[in-house]
Amino acid sequence: MQCNIREWRMEDKSRLAELLNNKKILNNLRDGIPYPYTVADAEEYISAMLSVDKTQTFSFAVTVDDRVVGSIAAYRCENIHSRTAELGYYLGEAYWGKGIATSAVKQICKYVFEHTDIIRIFAEPFSYNAASCRVLEKAGFEFEGTLHSNAVKDGKILDMKMYALLKN
Ligand SMILES: CC(C)(COP(=O)(O)OP(=O)(O)OC[C@H]1O[C@@H](n2cnc3c(N)ncnc32)[C@H](O)[C@@H]1OP(=O)(O)O)[C@@H](O)C(=O)NCCC(=O)NCCS
Repeated sequence: MQCNIREWRMEDKSRLAELLNNKKILNNLRDGIPYPYTVADAEEYISAMLSVDKTQTFSFAVTVDDRVVGSIAAYRCENIHSRTAELGYYLGEAYWGKGIATSAVKQICKYVFEHTDIIRIFAEPFSYNAASCRVLEKAGFEFEGTLHSNAVKDGKILDMKMYALLKN
């Protein structure tokens, strides 16, 4: 399925709320995203993304036929890590398993490497998140190792996997 990444628009807020109001997605992300996830939450997120420093945060809606199906962003790190960026993404559940995330990851990495001085993009999925690990592998990321007991989510101590893509 052909997908694109584009800047967020405030008119996407209802659609974003519809997609992200899903525990199966939130269970695989960091804490801090409200559940239930409302249109007001989506408005706050889009508003924040429209006003970010565009040299630090690279945030996009993932679309199919210009309809939002997910979200992807890379965040520049700080201090000695300032030329690295952390990647995060999710799709609405109806769109899983169609190759969309792999395509979106490839597109954002191309954008970041072509438009910024960033030399390393990394992602840290929970070790059990086989779909996300596979997405990163298909997008050319290298598995660098397991980060043991690197997170506590819903009271469970979890391993994470470090994947990175370097600028050629
Ligand atoms: C992870 C996520 C983004 C994947 O998106 P997607 O568009 O379905 O991914 P793709 O279709 O590009 O690729 C998924 C791959 O994982 C594989 N996969 C899916 N579930 C799997 C599982 N349980 N075990 C092993 N492989 C699995 C698919 O077969 C596919 O690989 P293939 O093309 O070799 O067959 C989506 O499931 C999602 O949004 N999940 C919730 C949020 C999340 O986990 N975000 C990532 C946080 S790091």
